[in-house]
Parts: sequence; structure tokens; C-alpha cells
Amino acid sequence: MDGYGLEGVVVADTALSDVDGERGRLVIRGHDVEELALRRDFESLCALLWSGALPDAAAHAALQAALGRARVRAFARLPTLGDALAATDAMDALRAALAHLRADEIGAADLKVELTAAVAVFAAAWLRQRAGAAALVPDPSSSHAADFLRMAGAHGNDPARAGALDAYLVTASDHGMNASTFTARVVASTHSDAVSAVVAALGALKGPRHGGAPGPVLTMLDAIGTPELAADWIAHELAAGRRIMGMGHRVYRVRDPRAAVLERAIERLQLAGLRSNRLALARAVEAVAVASLGERSPERRLAANVEFYTAVILDAVGLPSALFSATFAVARVAGWLAHIDEQLAGGRLIRPASRYVGPMPEVCEAA
Ligand code: COA
Repeated sequence: MDGYGLEGVVVADTALSDVDGERGRLVIRGHDVEELALRRDFESLCALLWSGALPDAAAHAALQAALGRARVRAFARLPTLGDALAATDAMDALRAALAHLRADEIGAADLKVELTAAVAVFAAAWLRQRAGAAALVPDPSSSHAADFLRMAGAHGNDPARAGALDAYLVTASDHGMNASTFTARVVASTHSDAVSAVVAALGALKGPRHGGAPGPVLTMLDAIGTPELAADWIAHELAAGRRIMGMGHRVYRVRDPRAAVLERAIERLQLAGLRSNRLALARAVEAVAVASLGERSPERRLAANVEFYTAVILDAVGLPSALFSATFAVARVAGWLAHIDEQLAGGRLIRPASRYVGPMPEVCEAA
């Protein structure tokens, strides 16, 4: 019934990131995402988003150490999370686990670091619990990306893999007024607390039209198997009325620039000697999907979005598809927290209007 989707509606002024859908450009606090993703790590992005500037060496070391200590504290909280991590879906587990945190207990000064650390620790612990294994103790001296990989049991000591995950976390850290960021800002605008805003945002991220797409992308690539079968498979999906995961975007009318950034990061991983079995297949499937979707609706160009190559890069660094959406949250929580601060600093209560199309009470004529 609601065909609006707030498309093109400006709900905030933000200094955090700008998405140019026509030109396919993403700028985060004055820096192109390409420059950030291939040269900076997740800690630098957190500093950039939270303080407005890329950190110098001392500030970077301080933030890395603070995140490390916070991961250790989050790990100590695992026994207090009840059965939250027993959920079969990682996002359900993460939502339930984060809901145990209390903003008033953490304190405003540490909230961003504590919540960012907690998302990574809880997501990795869920994966271990699912495999029937004990959670791995964080290494506070490690980078956030390397430690997340290690806690998830996936070669965290390999600098090439950690570097590729850093490139992903940077790329996914913020993206204008996407659905989950908007959700976080709506909750923050009521002057609720940051934990509530992050839990709500996580719920929005879970959906397959937002952060839930990369798992199904990998399923699709596996179902297609070889490039020659891509055209038939995609034609069958479209004929059945299903969407091609990892294709299309609300804002981009060209290829999502983040897809190219991730593709380059996967190439770098290959140069370091780690072959991605799925890169060549993904490129072939993308070409077929773009052509098929273009034939179907020439007036609305649908191209690959970030989730398409997210599936390939997260698979290449050794994370299972069950953890893909939660890994998106590991990155995006940095952006949510920056937006929550920005909303509190200058925003009003977000309270849009609706158009009533239901019946009105019958008018009773006075006798
Ligand atoms: N495969 C097939 N058709 C698609 C499509 C896709 N991936 N994405 C959009 N379309 C079609 C819709 O079916 C619709 O066609 P119709 O008008 O004939 O019904 C038209 O394009 C517009 O779709 P709509 O959902 O209104 O556009 P939107 O701007 O809201 O969509 C997405 C944005 C991301 C939700 C959409 O492209 C999508 O569902 N993509 C697949 C999921 C995905 O990759 N999500 C991650 C996003 S980063």
C-alpha cells in the first residue's frame, strides 16, 4: 500500500557521508571511499567518523588499544547474556546479546568504543557457540579486524586476510541515510539511549533488502556453479518473480562504487597468494545479471551493489555466510554511533506524516 519509501526525502543534514547515486561516488567526511578502503584500517575510520579527522599515529594507537580493552570487557560479559547466543540466526543472536547492555552502566564517554567492540565479540562468539566450541579470548593488542577474524576462528594472524577484512569494514562503515542508519537516528531523535538505537538499527540491517543480501548472494553463486549456467539460472529466477540478490540500489543508478572497491581488495588478496574461488564466477554472473535486468527494464538500470562483492570478499577471508550480515554490523555500528551523536547534537524529533486513506466514522445526524 505504501509506495513512498521516503525516496529522495532529506531527513537530516549530515557531515558524515555523501552518496552520489548518479555518478557512483561515496564520500566519507571529505574522503573518497576508494582512498580510505585501500589505505586505511577500521580504527582510522572510527576516528574519522567519530572525531572528524583521520588520526595521527598516537591517536590511532590509543583507539586501537581502547577497542582492544573493550573487546576484553565484552568477552567478560558473555556469561551474562543468557541464551542470546543460542539463536540459530546470527542477527537474532546479536540483537538479543546487545539488548543486554545498558547505556547507563557503560557511561556516555565510552559508549562508542564499548558498543563497537561488543558487536565484534558477540558475533564471533555466536559463531563459535554454533560450532559447539568455546568463545576465543580477545587479543587486546591486535587490530579490530584481525582480532575479529581470529575470534571467529578464521586466520586472524594472516595480514593479507586481515587487510582485506579491514578494506571491507572501512567500505561498509557508513553510507548516507540508509535504512538502518535512519532507524538509529529515529530512535536517537526521541532521546532514547544509544544501545536502544543500535539494537533497532540492527533489526533494520537484518532484512534481505538491506544487510541480509550477501548470504543469499553466495547461495546464488553456489547454485549457479559455472558461468555458462548463469543466464538460464537468472532467467528462471526473474520469471519466477524473484529478485537477484546483490543487484539494484535505491540511490545508485550506476554500479555501486563499493562493489569496485571490494573487487580490488579481492584482487589484492589474490596477489598475496590467496585465491578466491568465486571471483571469476561472480564477475561472470554480474555481467549476465546486469544484461538480463537491463533487457527487462531498460528505463531503470540495475547494477551490482555492495553486497554482491561482500559475499565474495567475506568468503575469501574465511568467514562463513551465516556470519555475513553480522560482519556488516561489525562495520556499520561505527557509522550508526556517529549518526546517533550527530542527531543528538542538532536534530529534532523525527516524526513524519502519513496520509490517511481509511474510512471515517459515519456522521450521526442530530435528531
Ligand atoms: N532483481 C530484480 N528486480 C529488481 C531488483 C533485483 N535485484 N531490484 C529492483 N528490482 C525491480 C523491482 O522488482 C521493481 O520492479 P517493478 O517496478 O516491475 O515491480 C523495480 O526494480 C523497483 O524496485 P523497488 O524495490 O521499488 O526499488 P528500491 O529502490 O526500493 O530497491 C533494493 C532497492 C536494494 C531494495 C532492490 O534493488 C533489491 O531488492 N535488491 C536486491 C536485494 C539487495 O541486493 N539488497 C542489498 C542492497 S545494498
